[in-house]
Amino acid sequence: MENGRASTKPISQVTCTAPVNIAVIKYWGKRDEQLVLPINPSLSVTLSQDQLCTRTTVAASVDFKRDRIWLNGQEQSIDTPRLQKCLGEIRRLARKRKHEEERSGDLLGCCVHICSENNFPTAAGLASSAAGYACLVQSLARLFGIDGDVSHIARQGSGSACRSMYGGFVEWTMGRAEDGSDSVAKQVAPAEHWPELRVLVVVVNAGKKAVGSTEGMQTTVRTSALVAYRAEHVVPSRQDDMKRAVLDRDFQAFGEITMRDSNQFHATCLDTYPPIFYLNETSKQIIHLVHRYNRHHGKVKAAYTFDAGPNAVLYLLQDDVPEVLALLKHFFPANANNDSERTFVRGLPDVCRKDV
Ligand code: DP6
Repeated sequence: MENGRASTKPISQVTCTAPVNIAVIKYWGKRDEQLVLPINPSLSVTLSQDQLCTRTTVAASVDFKRDRIWLNGQEQSIDTPRLQKCLGEIRRLARKRKHEEERSGDLLGCCVHICSENNFPTAAGLASSAAGYACLVQSLARLFGIDGDVSHIARQGSGSACRSMYGGFVEWTMGRAEDGSDSVAKQVAPAEHWPELRVLVVVVNAGKKAVGSTEGMQTTVRTSALVAYRAEHVVPSRQDDMKRAVLDRDFQAFGEITMRDSNQFHATCLDTYPPIFYLNETSKQIIHLVHRYNRHHGKVKAAYTFDAGPNAVLYLLQDDVPEVLALLKHFFPANANNDSERTFVRGLPDVCRKDV
C-alpha cells in the first residue's frame, strides 16, 4: 500500500537476517571517511543467526513513490549519507551487470521499502549497526539479483558491517586500492572450525552509548598519538598472530590477544583528547574477575572484550560456561533472579546472555 491505495502491481520482496560480529582485533579509526577505509585490519567472530541479529525485509514495487525505511517499527529518514551510499552502490552495481535478468532490470526503476528489526538493544555497543547494514546490503543485493561479494558496500554503511557478511571468523583487510575496492571482508575459518567456542554477552547497560563509534574514532584519530602507533606497529603482527590462533584453535593465544587488543583499544580512547570512557565500574570489575579466574586456573580460560560501550563479551570454551556463569551470578547478584539470561545450544559460537 502507498497512500492508502491497494497495489495492483506485483511486489518483489526479500527477507534476510544478519548476526552481529564481535571483534577480537578492533577497528578504530578511518583513513578515508567517505569510503570508510580503516587505519588497521581487524578480525571478528560472527555470532550464529538465531542470536543477536537483525532481520530485514526489502520490497520493490512500481507503486512505491519513494524509498522509505522503518527501524524497529519506526519510520526513519532515508536521506542519511550512509543509507544513500548503500542504496546508490547497489543500484549502480545492478545496472552495471552485463547480462541483466528481466527481473532485476524491471526492479531498477522501482523505489524500495525497507523494514528492519533488531532482537537486541540498538546502539548500546552491541554492534547493531554492523548487523543492520550487513543485513540491508545483503537483502538489497538479493533483491536486485547481485551475486558475489558485496562487503565493500556494507563497509560504506558501517565499517564493522562488512565482517557480518560472513559467518565464523572473519577478517577485514585494509586494502590498497584508492577506490577501496580491495578493503573487504574475508572468512578466515567457518564457524564449524571451532565448535567448542562460546560467547557470553554480559549486558551491563542496555542504554544508548554516549559517544557513537563514528564520532569517537574521528576524535581519536585526530588527537591520539597512541592510535597511530597501534595501527602501524601493533595490529599488523597481532592480526597474523590472531589468525594463527584461530586456525590452530589455540584458546590461550586467542584469549590473551583478545584481551590485550580490547585493552589497547580502550587505552586509545583514554589517550583521545578529551578522553572517551566506554568502560564503567562494572566493566572494570568484570575485567578483574576474568583475570582472577584465569590466574586461579593458571591459564586463560575466559577472555573479555569491550566495544564502544560498557557491555562485556566473554569468549570461553563450552565446558567452562556453567562455572563462569555461576561466578557472574555470585559476584553480580543484583539481577541473579531475573529471567533475561538466555542460553542457546545451537549454532556457533553459542551465546549466553547474562544481565548484570
Ligand atoms: C569498537 O563500524 O560502528 O565496535 O564505521 O563509523 O560505522 P563506523 O564504525 P563502527 O565501529 C565499530 C568499532 C568497534 C570495533 C570493531 O567492531 O571492530
